Amino acid sequence: MSKVFIASAGLTPVGEHWRKSLLDLMVEASLSAMNQAPELIPDRVIVGNMFSAVGSNQEQLGAYLANQLNLIGVPAYKVEAACGSGGAAIHNGYLAIRAGESEAVLVCGVEKMKDIDVGKVTAALAMADSAEYTQFAGATFVSLNALTHALYMKKYGVSKEDMAGFPVLGHRNAALSKHAMFKKPITVEDVLRSPIISDPIRLMDSSPVCDGAAALLLVSEEGAKRMDGPLVEIAASEVAANIFTFYERPDPLDYLATRAASKRALEKAGYKLSQMDFMETHDAFSITGALALETLGVCKPGEAPHDVSAGRFNLDGELPLNTFGGLKGRGHPVGATGVYQVAEAYMQIAGRAEKNQVRGAKVGLTHNMGGVDTTTSVHILRREA
Ligand code: COA
Repeated sequence: MSKVFIASAGLTPVGEHWRKSLLDLMVEASLSAMNQAPELIPDRVIVGNMFSAVGSNQEQLGAYLANQLNLIGVPAYKVEAACGSGGAAIHNGYLAIRAGESEAVLVCGVEKMKDIDVGKVTAALAMADSAEYTQFAGATFVSLNALTHALYMKKYGVSKEDMAGFPVLGHRNAALSKHAMFKKPITVEDVLRSPIISDPIRLMDSSPVCDGAAALLLVSEEGAKRMDGPLVEIAASEVAANIFTFYERPDPLDYLATRAASKRALEKAGYKLSQMDFMETHDAFSITGALALETLGVCKPGEAPHDVSAGRFNLDGELPLNTFGGLKGRGHPVGATGVYQVAEAYMQIAGRAEKNQVRGAKVGLTHNMGGVDTTTSVHILRREA
C-alpha cells in the first residue's frame, strides 16, 4: 500500500464572497494548489460540500470542478458528511491512493453560505440531524449544541466566563492569519456582552456563516518522487460514525465518534497523543471545543475551559490549538472546514504558517465533525522522516 503525501494546499480567504460563485471559489483554491505542484496532474477529483443544492442550486460538484479544470474523464464526485464533509472527502482521496487506484488526487472543500438568508442556512444546517424528529421539532444546530453546553456547565460547575476562553483564543490566532475571517482579537467581556443566540450560547461562542474553499493535492509515494522539498505525510486518516441523534446516546457529552476515530488514527500512525506538536479541533461552538479536547484525552473532564484560559493551548503554549483561529476565528464554511484544517496542519509542518507558525511543528492532529460528533474524521500529519 502506498503512503499518502500532501504535495500542496490552496486556500481562499474565508469571509463574504459576494462576487465569487461556488465554482469560482473551488477553481481559485484548486488552481492555487495545482500551480504549486505543476509536475502532478490530478487523476481523481473529490469535492467535500454540505449544501450546494440549497445554497447555490448546484449539485455534481466533482464533475463541475473537473470540467472547469479540463480534467475530463477522471473519476470526479462529491462527498457529503454535513460539517464533516471536508474530512470525509480527504479520507476518500487517501483511500484511493492507499489502494493504488490513484497517484494524484485533488480534494477540494467548498461552501457558499452567505448567498441565502440566515433562516435558510439554519434550516440547511439542521439537515445534518434527523428530519423526522429533530428538524420536525424545530431544533437548530445552535440549539442542539446549546443543550450540551448547558448540561456541561451544570455537570462540571463551569461558568460562562470559563467557556469564553475558546473564542478569545480563536480570535487571537485568527488575527494573525491571512485567510481567517475575523481579524480582531476579542476579550472575555466581549464574549459575555455579545447577544444570546440560543441560551447559553452567545454570538461569540458560535462560528460564523461564511464562504470559502480549500484544496489539497494528495500524491502517492511514486508521484512524490517527482517532487522536491520537504514532504508532509498523512500518517493516518480515520472516520467514525456515532449514534445518529445525540439525545439518544447513553451520555450526550461523550463524543464516541471522536474517541473511535482518534484511537484508530493514533494506533495506525504509531503515536501517542502527547507526541502531537499542535492540534486543529472542531470548535464550531465553545462547547464543541471543550468536549473535543476532553474526548481526545488532552484535558480531564470538565477542565478544558480552565486549561484554555490558563494558556496551555496558546501558539507558544504546551499544545498549540486551532492555530489559524479554528472554526470560530478562521470561520466555518461548513463542507470546506475539514480541508482548511488539514491544509493548515500541512502549512504548519511545511514551515509555511508565517505569523501563525508553531515552532518546530513536525506532527499534528486534525479533528472534523459532521453534526454533533455524528460523522467525525481524524487526520494525523507528519513531516517525512
Ligand atoms: N462571531 C462573531 N461575530 C459574528 C458572528 C460570529 N459567529 N456572526 C456574525 N458576526 C458579526 C458579523 O461580522 C457582523 O459584524 P459587523 O456588524 O461588525 O459587520 C454582525 O455580527 C452581524 O452579522 P450577520 O452576518 O448579520 O449575522 P447573522 O445574524 O446573519 O448571523 C448567527 C449570526 C449567529 C445567527 C450565524 O452566524 C449562525 O447561525 N451561526 C451558527 C452557524 C452554525 O451553526 N454552523 C454550523 C455549526 S456545526
